[in-house]
Amino acid sequence: MQVWLDGRVMPVEEARISPFDRGFLFGDGVYEVVRFFDGVGMAMRLHLERLERSLALAGIEGFSAPEAERVMHAVMRAEGLRDAAVYLQVTRGAAATRTHIPPTGLRPTVFAFASACAPLSALDQAAPIAVVVRPDDRWHRCEIKTISLMGSVLPMLEAARMEAEEAILVRDGLVSEGSSSNVMVVRGGAVVTPPIDMDPSILHGTMRHLALEAARAEGLIADVRPLPVQEMLQADEIIIVSSKRVLAGVTRLDGRGFGDGEVGPVAHRLIRRMRDGVQAHLAAAR
Ligand code: PDD
Repeated sequence: MQVWLDGRVMPVEEARISPFDRGFLFGDGVYEVVRFFDGVGMAMRLHLERLERSLALAGIEGFSAPEAERVMHAVMRAEGLRDAAVYLQVTRGAAATRTHIPPTGLRPTVFAFASACAPLSALDQAAPIAVVVRPDDRWHRCEIKTISLMGSVLPMLEAARMEAEEAILVRDGLVSEGSSSNVMVVRGGAVVTPPIDMDPSILHGTMRHLALEAARAEGLIADVRPLPVQEMLQADEIIIVSSKRVLAGVTRLDGRGFGDGEVGPVAHRLIRRMRDGVQAHLAAAR
């Protein structure tokens, strides 16, 4: 496997990161995951804007969004992939020793790799997904896409124990987001999802943005407002969106069947709209 580390592509066996890297010692870094179809990054502009915002909010200097795009394409090329998910991580860099206050002049550590994913034709249907509902014990700055992810890993350990693939996180009776996704529900003709500027905030999801556009294009009401967990449990459909999965429909919740146990019709309509959007983008890029 070929990866990107500190300015070049190399075999993963050659990749070396200092144990004093602040990403390792403090989880002091940010990341992005971008899905590529036929070599074109889905919602790339939104990903790059979010990366810029995460870097600025984290105060990490010395790496920019245009560089990120070049790095992602470089790892795709190195692996000979056209349909993939690319992970890119930027830490504050390696210091000489462990101090909470970072020394000045650190050079960020940039790591990226690509993994093969299904092609665009897989977006003909929304996949089924099993979820659990767990308390949101994460920090209050979830608009920063930080690599400090224990608050997301712990609920996922519980999800795995129940053979579920995602944990929907709830704070003060309100749905915030999934451990690595955003959450939407369908009620009648409306798609309801929590606002990104909640207090505490949630991640400005790129697929959330595209799914809301798709809902409007389908003639549905995009209802962005706080979502009580009770309302989610009584919804017609629960939908999970993220770059890795694009869009999935909940069929099991907390170990029991949800709804009629099938992915709902709105989930399928939304993912097909999103697929059509990617197709149009690919055609325009050619
Ligand atoms: N996760 N919320 C959280 C907490 C996330 O980690 C993610 C993405 C999302 C969805 O964002 P987007 O639609 O832009 O991918 C929401 C990525 C995929 C991951 O950690 O693998």
